[in-house]
This record gives sequence, structure tokens and C-alpha cells, in this order.
Amino acid sequence: MSSEGMTAAPGPGSVGDVLRFPDGFAWGAATASYQIEGAVHEGGRSPSIWDTFAHTPGKVQNGDTGDVADDHYHRYREDVGLLADLGVTHYRFSLAWPRLQPGGRGGLNHDGVDFYSRLVDELLGRGIQPWVTLYHWDLPQVLEDSGGWPVRDTAERFAEYAAAVHDRLSDRIRHWTTLNEPWCSAFLGYANGHHAPGRTEPGAALAAAHHLMLGHGLAVQAMRSQDASSTLGITLNLYPVDPASDAPADADAARRVDAVSNRIFLDPLLRGRYPEDLRRDVAEISNMAFVAGGDEKVINAPLDVLGVNYYTRHVVRASGARQPTSTRASAWVGSADVQSVDRGLPKTEMGWEIDPQGLYDVLERVQREYGPIPLYITENGAAFADELGPDGTVADPQRVAYLDDHFRVARRAIDDGIDLRGYFVWTLIDNFEWAWGFSKRFGLVYVDYETQRRIPKDSARWFAGVTRRNGLATAV
Ligand code: FCB
Repeated sequence: MSSEGMTAAPGPGSVGDVLRFPDGFAWGAATASYQIEGAVHEGGRSPSIWDTFAHTPGKVQNGDTGDVADDHYHRYREDVGLLADLGVTHYRFSLAWPRLQPGGRGGLNHDGVDFYSRLVDELLGRGIQPWVTLYHWDLPQVLEDSGGWPVRDTAERFAEYAAAVHDRLSDRIRHWTTLNEPWCSAFLGYANGHHAPGRTEPGAALAAAHHLMLGHGLAVQAMRSQDASSTLGITLNLYPVDPASDAPADADAARRVDAVSNRIFLDPLLRGRYPEDLRRDVAEISNMAFVAGGDEKVINAPLDVLGVNYYTRHVVRASGARQPTSTRASAWVGSADVQSVDRGLPKTEMGWEIDPQGLYDVLERVQREYGPIPLYITENGAAFADELGPDGTVADPQRVAYLDDHFRVARRAIDDGIDLRGYFVWTLIDNFEWAWGFSKRFGLVYVDYETQRRIPKDSARWFAGVTRRNGLATAV
């Protein structure tokens, strides 16, 4: 450890040339099973909806699939070594349901448990705390075949799976997240069809959102009763949603998008009821009869932490049209007429506007309207067109600048009293970016997919400095 890592201030503050984070702040990197593991036919794993989707022509750019991905299933030791080099205190990864419970119900698959058990031991051996997500989008295909998330039974199946896995691994895994970004599962999966299973049924998407939430609540209840000392949470992708103008129609458009993106999850989770305005907005599509008496109370099960994934802000306007402005199905169910406004800000390779202040706004809003609750940024990061240079290095100054800007905003939020306890960068290594395949590189570490060679980018070295100092250098 370098001498600059030895600053010993008790809490956050500027010490010498370091803008420090609070002692004990969790620094991590995040990944997800289907995006990195590969080995889709090994160890008794059954197909997930993403195997089916990726193998359906036209669904994923370049026909890419997660069949091999980063081959992490075989190279997990090397990848844990990369995490150790980053100096992270925590590693957020997801468990593949079809590896652990290939039939989508019943007992666990020994080889699946064994794989994650070995990964966890490797992490703990390096002093890295595992932070697991039980569901990061890879539903066993067999459960989609019996209706998927739009049917209530899938919520029950999820709770059963969560309880079985928690029972086996909670001796060594202390941090449990039920779902990653249920918005994407429900609305990209079942409304606009950009993600698996690729259905375009707005009413089914609303039912999916509810059954994801119900599954979450049932899983929390089950895990809590098994071991009250586990830290339990969920991760949401939250956005500030701003109107493009002062016009009442634009304000209403922003309200509607906020309802169907943010409050549809925050309200039942943290207030125990769906927003009334959301129910009205979607009334022509669904009467939400799938919400049975008592469900909202189940969803409202007490949480220990809330994970927030932040990438960008939405600025929206009403198009004035009653009908969708595009022939493509909209993910904003009930608000298909609302348009996103491009503010002309610099964008990442995903086309997402770079807006660090949005991170502050999201955290501040959650704490003010729904808190108190300990918050973790469970994903933030950026894709850029990284290239392996002739000298064998990957220079990614844009990613360093992006992360530096967002980390400073996080630090300001802490100064302002927001209970932010940790920050996970998306992502450890370049990987399968869903419908974009391998065309988007978000990693701190570059992956040469021909050879599976891992090459830490400049941002990896920079981030290792941040974790070592527990802070940002204020002067170079
Ligand atoms: C999030 C996903 C994650 C990754 C990033 C870029 O929505 O949770 O798997 O794809 O976006």
C-alpha cells in the first residue's frame, strides 16, 4: 500500500490532497451471470430466457450470445485476482437461477451450488465480501414456458429458489439482493420486447412488474425467517424524470414516466401501495386485478438496503398524439405517446447522456421521499469505444473522467447527509451487453474475446488508486 493510502481521518473530509469517503465505505465492481459466465451447457445448467432470445435471429446485435461470454465459469479465479488488484472491498455478482435450480422448482443442483461456493471461497480468501443478486434476468426457460413473470406462480417459484439458495450459502454470503432492475425485466422483457423473452404485451408487462415485486417480498420474508442477520435488499434502476418545458402537458408526461419507471417500484416497496395515478394512467390497458389483497403488504417487507443503479436522466415531452409516436412498442406502458428529449449533452457509446448531477438527484429524492434507508449505488459506469493499443494498453480517459465526476457527486451527497454507504462500478470486465452483444465495452478490464485475455484498462489502475486511498485525489 502506498503512503497516500494511509490517511487516517475518522470520517469524510479533505485530508491533504485526498477527498476522502467515510471509513468503511464499500467500493466494488459488479457483473451478472449471463453476461460473463458462459458454460451454458455445463454443470447441469438449463437454458434461460436469454439463451433462447440470444439464439433467436435478429434479437441481439451481430448474433452474439452468452454461450461463452467471458468464460468466467472456468476463469473465475483469475477474475477474482482482477478484483483483488482493484482493491475492492465488495464484489456484486448474480447467481444463475438455471444453474442452481435447472427445473425452476424443487431441490438445488449440486454442481451449481458448488460453482458459487468455490467463487465465494475465493472471494473471501482475498478479503472481498460477496454481494449477490438472486435474479439478474436469466429466468429458467421452463418457467417462461409456463407463463413467465406475467403469471403469479413465477413469484412463488422465485421465493422458493431464493430461500433454498439462501439456506445453503448464507453462512458465507451476508449481502443478498433479490432482483436487479425489475423495470427492465418487466418492461423491456414484456412491453417493448428489446430483452428476453421479447414479448410485446403491455398488460402482461404490468403483471410481470407486480409478480417480480411479489416474488421479491415473498423472498425477503423467507430469507428473513431463515437468518435475521442477513442484509437484504433490492436493486432498482432509477432516473430523474424532468419535463422538457413548463407546459402542463410536459409536466404530466414527466409525472407519468416517473410513475411507470420509478414509483411503480418505490411506492409498493417502501410505502406498501401502488401509486393511484399509475393505476389511472394504465387503466385502459389493465385494471391491475392481478394485485391481490395483501400483496402490497408482502412487497412492503422491511428492507435493510436499497441498491440504486444510475446511468442517465430522462427529459420528456408530450407529443400531443394519443397514439404511440412510433410503431415500435413502448416500454413506458400507458405513456407510449411520450417522447424523450435529447439535450445535446455528451453521450456514452450507449447513446446515454452523461449527467452526474442526476445521480445526486436520484439519491436525494429517494432519501427525502422514501427514507430513511441505507443506499448503495449498485451500478454506475459507461461504455466507450475502447481499443487495445499497439503497446498493449487500453487508454480510456473518458471512463476515468466519467467515474471521477460521478464519484465526486456521490461524495457531495454524503456531505449533504444522504446515507450512501457504497459504490459498485459497472463493470469488472467487458461482457455481453444484452441486446447489444459484445459491441459495448463497459469494463474496467478489457477482454480480447478471441483469446479471453484480460487487460486492465487505465481506468482499472485509476480505480485501484481510489479504493486504496478511499477517496479521490484532489491534486495530481
Ligand atoms: C444495467 C444492467 C447491467 C448492464 C448495465 C449497462 O441496466 O443491470 O446488466 O447491462 O445496465
